[in-house]
This record gives sequence, C-alpha cells and structure tokens, in this order.
Amino acid sequence: MELKLDPWGAVHVDDYTKLFDEFGISSFDQILPGLERPHPYMRRKIIFGHRNYDSVLRAMQQHKPFAVMSGFMPSGRAHFGHMMVMNEIIWHQQQGGDAFAAVANMEAHAVRGISWSKCRDLGINEYILSLIALGFEPKENSHIYFQSENYKMRNLAFELGISANFSEVSAIYGFSGETHLSHMQSVMCQSADILHPQLAEFGGPKPVVIPVGADQDPHIKLTRDLAYRTRKFLVEVRSDNNGDYVSLRGKAASPELMKDAEAMLKEAAYGKVKRYEEHIDVTDIQDRDGLASGSLLARIEERVIKLETGHGEFGFIPPASIYHRFMTGLTGGKMSSSKPESHIALTEEPKEAGKKIMKAITGGRQSLSEQKKLGGEPEKCSIYEFLVFHLSDDDKELLELDAECRSGRRMCGTCKKDVAERIQQFLTEHQRAREAAKERLPEFGIKA
Ligand code: TRP
Repeated sequence: MELKLDPWGAVHVDDYTKLFDEFGISSFDQILPGLERPHPYMRRKIIFGHRNYDSVLRAMQQHKPFAVMSGFMPSGRAHFGHMMVMNEIIWHQQQGGDAFAAVANMEAHAVRGISWSKCRDLGINEYILSLIALGFEPKENSHIYFQSENYKMRNLAFELGISANFSEVSAIYGFSGETHLSHMQSVMCQSADILHPQLAEFGGPKPVVIPVGADQDPHIKLTRDLAYRTRKFLVEVRSDNNGDYVSLRGKAASPELMKDAEAMLKEAAYGKVKRYEEHIDVTDIQDRDGLASGSLLARIEERVIKLETGHGEFGFIPPASIYHRFMTGLTGGKMSSSKPESHIALTEEPKEAGKKIMKAITGGRQSLSEQKKLGGEPEKCSIYEFLVFHLSDDDKELLELDAECRSGRRMCGTCKKDVAERIQQFLTEHQRAREAAKERLPEFGIKA
C-alpha cells in the first residue's frame, strides 16, 4: 500500500512504523524514559512518534519556557479523536507550558466553504466549550482564538509567505492552477499558528510542541523549514583533520550581525574564534564533553537566538510535534467526522452513544462457541480501543480484560454493556462541565 500523508484527503496509515523510515518521524520510545509522569497516551504508546520533542523535554526538565499549540478546523462535530488533541494541549499546559488553541475558521471557510457564522458557532459549541470543560485554564500566555481575529498570527502568515514559493507548496499539498489563493493562504496561516507563540509579544523564541494526528505532518515539515529560513545563522558541528569544531554559518547575516556574533563567541570563550566572510568557526573547544553530548551546541544556539532577536529578527526554533494513532471507527475504518455512525461526538446524547457502542464492530468471533474456543481479538476491537484510549485509567485492569478476552472467558456482549455504561457516564459528566464552561467564556476573551 502506498503510504501518503495527506492533510485534507482520506488517510490510510495502517503501519505506523513506516513513518519512522519514510518520513523521518522519530519513535516516542526514546523520549519516554525522560518523563517523570507521562500522559497515559504516552505510556500506552498511543502517542507513537515525534519530531524534535527533545527540545520540549529539555525545557520541561530545566523549567524553562515552552509552549504547546494546536488547531481545530470547525467543520463538523468534535469527537473523541479531537478530544485527544485537547487533552494533549491541556497536559502540556499543566506541565507549565504556555498553551495556544486555534479555531481554524480561515481554513474551514477557504477550504471547506463553511460560512463565517457557522464557523463561529461550531468553533464555540463543538471545540471551545469542550476544551474548557476538559481543563484548559485561562493563563497569562494561554490563548484560545479564532484565526480570523488573531492579527499577530495573520501578519506573520503574510511574512512567512515571502519564504514559501508556489512550486514547493504545490508539491507538498498537490496544489494546481485551479487552486485558489485563499486556500494557499490558509496553509501559511497554519504555519503562522504554529510559529506565533515564539513572537516577542508572547515571550520570544521557545520550544513549541504541536500535538496532531500523523496526517498533519506535511504542515509540520513545511513549518520547520520556514522556521529555518527566517534564521540568520545555522549552528552546526563540523569536523576536519583536527577533529570536531563548531561553525556558525551566517546564511543571511548582515556584516554587523557577523561582527556581533564574533564578539559574542569571543566573550563566551568556548574556544578559538575565527571569522570568515560567511561563517565563524570555533576550534580548540574547552568543553569536549559538552561538544560530544550536544549540550554545548544547545547553549551556543540559545545565545545566537538572543543575538538574532536583539537585531529584530524572529529567531524561531523549529517546532516540535507529537503524533498519536487514530482511533478505529466504530464501524471499522477510520473514525471520521463526516460518518456519524463511525464516531461518538462529545455532545452526543449519552443514550445514543451507548447504542452506537452496542452496535460497534468488535474483535469477537462469528459465534459464541467459536469465541469460547478461540478467544477474542482485542487488537481488532473498537470497543477495547475506547477503553485503552479514554475510558480506563487503570493499566492493570486493561491487561486483565485483554487476557480474559483472549482466553475466551469474556464475551462481547458483557464488554459492550460495560463500555456503553462508562461512555454514558463520561458524556453526562463532560456535558455538565460544558454547561459550566458557557459561563466562563469571557475569561478566555470569547463573546458567546
Ligand atoms: N489543519 C488542521 C486541521 O485540518 C487545523 C489547524 C489549523 C492546525 N492550524 C493548526 C493544526 C495549527 C495544528 C496546528 O484540522
């Protein structure tokens, strides 16, 4: 099967490990040991991959500023898949990050043709209320916003458009001569959504993580490239006959910036500094361990970014991302907003949700006797998935259920009833919290 990550089309990604090799996404396994109390999604390998999450992890460990950002297209009802992104935003906010949530109404209007008023209605009633109900807090550098109302983001989108040319963007998104300009602009808006937490107005450059489904990776890759392109220096380790050294490539640095960088490096006394026309080398480095571990590079990078922002530049750090698995739809296949039977909306009538669960496709066998003999297949079961993803805090309970199912001691009817009850309880509570959130919209600067 051809593996294609397509942010607007149907997505079929059934072999996630392929993403590691083909797209350069790293496995989350490397990150997990560094987290003291990982989110259950991380522990359960629902979050399976990342780009550059090391930068965010380091900031969390060193109590330095970092942020989380993601966006929601107001094109239909919010379901449990969207809730995963919401929970990931909220978890990072609780870990001390600034948090940004965009309602992508410019994208929904341009790409899906949804009217502005419908976008507003869906944005508030489907996404924002649930986000608040799940625990998003109003904080100084935390924002829930509509794209169309965020002029800092929109100005940045315009600015970033200067660094992105037509053929490159077309190659990524499959744009053609028929693609209209606002569709293209909405791509720049998403990049600007992702980078604007690093603007001076929001505290300047910092690691930012974007929790998304793997289908959004093309956006992430483009945005990481755009971040690089706004930079004046590239800091890298090089080597020659005398071994490793650090080199600052002044890709687009003015002569003054080059001089200032030279002075900064001399003052920091990492080693011997020599300036050439387009690069500055630091050789005979004192801190060999730091050079080997990468910590020296990180420290130099930090100073270079300060230098760049001091000269009025953006100094963007390429954003990090984390990727979660998609939930299987209740009818098999992908869970999709456009197929009501495949998902359960966060605003679904709890009784209706229970009914959908009772009708869902499980990992059960053809007949009761066969199931007793062969056991069920929880890895193919949309009901078991609901437990793993959302409805059980208890890893031990899940392991027991798994074993009972496989051994043929637990039948689908029992399981479905149990999960239907849990989902009804969850939705009843969530919907009560959403009612309470209605009163709190002004705290987030949102007029109902
Ligand atoms: N394009 C995303 C979607 O289709 C929504 C989105 C807009 C977004 N801006 C973003 C996602 C920034 C992540 C980060 O759902």
